[in-house]
Amino acid sequence: QAVPVIDIDGPSASGKGTVAARVAAALGWNYLDSGALYRLTALAAQRAGVAWNDEPRVAAVAAGLDVVFGVDSILLAGEEVGEAIRSEEISSGASQVAALPAVRTALLFRQRAFRRAPGLVADGRDMASVVFTDAVSKVFLTASVEARAERRYKQLISKGIAAKLQPLLQEMRERDERDRGRSVAPLLQSADARLLDTTELSIEAAVAQVLAWARPLL
Ligand code: C5P
Repeated sequence: QAVPVIDIDGPSASGKGTVAARVAAALGWNYLDSGALYRLTALAAQRAGVAWNDEPRVAAVAAGLDVVFGVDSILLAGEEVGEAIRSEEISSGASQVAALPAVRTALLFRQRAFRRAPGLVADGRDMASVVFTDAVSKVFLTASVEARAERRYKQLISKGIAAKLQPLLQEMRERDERDRGRSVAPLLQSADARLLDTTELSIEAAVAQVLAWARPLL
């Protein structure tokens, strides 16, 4: 029997990363942060002097990523980049390289390799529609763009990183637009996914809901 997967798709800063990681921990399953792979591709391309719109060369960077995911670390060519890939600049770069079909193809097999027993919780934009279409449970996790910008703002401030709310809101709107409007694997709620709006929901409540939907199916 196939290793079970729970898909959690949604826009940036919707809380899906935190929710997915906690659901995985609660079940004792593996966790895939697929966005990190697009972020790593953007960072590795930048370091190699490859422009984010140079499709063949960025795809080659994606195919050759030398990355090791640890419990609390991400090593790119042996260097810790967990913080570096979260910058606003790399967030924007990730959404640009993610619009290139050859890059998505190059990362497809790498994502599927995370499917190992006893199960996988996968978070991203196209988990339900492309990468793990046969998941036991599919969730589309979202929140208003204002709530998401405010969460990102608080997150940055709490880390001691200077931030302003208005530019963050603007950047988030642009990224949403790019992720929704692209021709390959656009961000959208899959017809067979359940909607979870976390605008007024705590992380704990969101985790409990995802688990309540999945448990009867396991
Ligand atoms: O989820 P996260 O914000 O880390 O994703 C970074 C970028 O990677 C997104 O803006 C999106 O364009 C892209 N992405 C994607 N498909 C995924 C995960 C992320 O296109 N499955």
